[in-house]
Amino acid sequence: MGVNVRGRSFLTLLDYTPEEIRYLLNLSKEFKRMKAAGTLHEYLRGKQVVLLFEKTSTRTRCAFEVAARDLGMGVTFLDPASSQMGKKESLADTAKVLGRMFDGIEYRGFKQSVVEDLAKYSGVPVWNGLTDDFHPTQMLADIMTCEEEFGDMRGRKLTFFGDARNNVANSLMVVCAKLGINFCACGPKELMPKDELVEKCREAAAYSGATITLIDDIREGAKDADVLYTDIWLSMGEPAELWEQRIHLLRPYQVNGALMAMAKPTAIFLHCLPSFHDRETTVGEDIYQKFGLEAMEVTDEVFLGKQARQFDEAENRMHTIKAVMYATLK
Ligand code: CP
Ligand code: NVA
Repeated sequence: MGVNVRGRSFLTLLDYTPEEIRYLLNLSKEFKRMKAAGTLHEYLRGKQVVLLFEKTSTRTRCAFEVAARDLGMGVTFLDPASSQMGKKESLADTAKVLGRMFDGIEYRGFKQSVVEDLAKYSGVPVWNGLTDDFHPTQMLADIMTCEEEFGDMRGRKLTFFGDARNNVANSLMVVCAKLGINFCACGPKELMPKDELVEKCREAAAYSGATITLIDDIREGAKDADVLYTDIWLSMGEPAELWEQRIHLLRPYQVNGALMAMAKPTAIFLHCLPSFHDRETTVGEDIYQKFGLEAMEVTDEVFLGKQARQFDEAENRMHTIKAVMYATLK
């Protein structure tokens, strides 16, 4: 039976079957081929989407805007400063209004319950562009990048080093569990995913044949790994006062040349970005002045090295987001 996700929201990959995820990945690859060949694909001409961003973004916003335009759609961008949402108008009322004008809504913000409520009240597909809990569109780009390198990812090992209970790590655990990829969260015990989510992922893993491992030993984390993944140590929305504690906890989990050398020689490095790998940002420089760290979650040796694939991954955000919008709106 063919997969059909028309009319569905895309809030967390927990709601999607492995077959549906596979379908979206295949569609993403097809869109990438079309873009490279210069084949126009304005399949959704006449439709309109709105992008709501309560947190900042470079990749996700640009990916949605470019993908929507490539599909022939109109795009409206709203941020908290330029809309009434949450200040003069409730979320439910905002969702009902947007649902009358737009065919689909992207939301990036804080609580997962907000993106769920938008879907509930708007009556149109809602796409999660990152919440405190999940970052599902990122996952399609990540797995697509892995498959471009290795082909079938089933049975391979992906290890996330760092804050293993953030939105990206949570979502990686979900997608790996669904697709039969062995997932390892490697970080301090204080920063491990919630038991409830681990339980759900273990259930999915029982079907797919994936394993889920939570450990604090970097040698074990890197051993036999095909993909080494990391993310910033302090996510959007977390207070800057936490930097000192986070640096103390996560310094041993920095992805550097020594750690890469503990993995398979064929391993690749991924990062959702943005990244603190040097002092070329205001935060990076500030951290250097306060704590003497030249780099945080990843060093330039890895970030600029031969195994790094994070810019392919960033490009793939656009192709995968296009697939999600097309599949749910067509
Ligand atoms: N990876 C990612 O979501 O990047 P942005 O925060 O720039 O959108
Ligand atoms: N964990 C990061 C991901 C950014 C794409 C954050 O939420 O800030």
